Amino acid sequence: MPEAGVAAKGLGRAVIFLGPPGAGKGTQARQIAESYSVPHLSTGDMFREHVSRGTPLGLRAKPIMERGELVPDDLVLSMVEERISRPDCADGFILDGFPRTLPQAEKLDEILRKRFKTQPVVVHFVVDEKQLMRRLTGRRTCAMGGEIYNIYDHPPKVPGRCDRDGGELMQRPDDREEVIAERLAAYERQTRPLVDYYCGRGVLKDVDGMAAPAAVTKNVLQLLAQKK
Ligand code: AP5
Repeated sequence: MPEAGVAAKGLGRAVIFLGPPGAGKGTQARQIAESYSVPHLSTGDMFREHVSRGTPLGLRAKPIMERGELVPDDLVLSMVEERISRPDCADGFILDGFPRTLPQAEKLDEILRKRFKTQPVVVHFVVDEKQLMRRLTGRRTCAMGGEIYNIYDHPPKVPGRCDRDGGELMQRPDDREEVIAERLAAYERQTRPLVDYYCGRGVLKDVDGMAAPAAVTKNVLQLLAQKK
C-alpha cells in the first residue's frame, strides 16, 4: 500500500469519489492521485477553468453553477469523455464529482468497459449535513495551485495565503449559504440514487468522512490496496 505522498504506479482502474458537496472528495482526491501517480479528474475544477477562461462551455455553465444546480449531462459527458481518452489516463484515474446522475453513470460504465478489465471502485464519503455546511462556508482554495483550506479546521499559516506556493486564497462563489442549500438539495435529488446503483453492483465502499483528513486518506489507501 502506498503511503500518502509516496508515489506508487497506477491504479489499473477508475476510482470514483462519491459524496455530497463538502464531503472531502477534492481534498482526498489530490492526496490519493499523488500517491498512485494518476490523474485527478474533477469536473467541478474543469468547469471552473472554463468559466475563468470565458469559453463557450464556461459561459453556459457559469449561471448554472452560481445557482447550485447541475450542468446538463450532455455538456458534462463530452468534456469527461475527451479527458478520459488522453494517454495519461491509461493506468487509471480518480473521478471527483463525476458521475452525478444516472445517465452519467451509465455512460461512464460504457466507457470503462472498453477501457479496463477491472470494475471501478466507488468510494462513498459519509458526512453529516451540519458538518458539510461548516466545511463549505469555511473553505478557501488557492488561486494558484488549488490547495484546499478551511478557516475553521485547516487554516493557512498566514491568513489568506497558501502555505505551499503563497497564492491568494479565494472563496468559491457557490460556497454562499443559500447556494449551498441548493447544491445539497441537488445532491439528494440527482446524485444520491447512485449510492444504490453502485451498491447493487457490489462496487461501493463507505468511508467515514467525518474523521480527520489524514485518517480518511489512510482508510482510502487501505481500501484501494485491498482491491488491487
Ligand atoms: P464540484 O466542484 O464538484 O463541487 P461539489 O461536488 O459540490 O464538491 P465540493 O468541491 O464542494 O466538495 P468536496 O467534497 O470536494 O470537499 P473538499 O475536499 O473541497 O462542483 C461544483 C459545481 O460544478 C456543481 O454544483 C455543478 O454545477 C457543476 N458540476 C461539477 N461536476 C458536475 C457533474 N458531474 N454533473 C453536473 N454538474 C457538475 O472539502 C470541503 C472543505 O472541507 C474544505 O475546506 C476542506 O479543507 C474541508 N475538509 C475536507 N475533508 C475534511 C475532513 N476530513 N475533516 C475536516 N475538514 C475537512
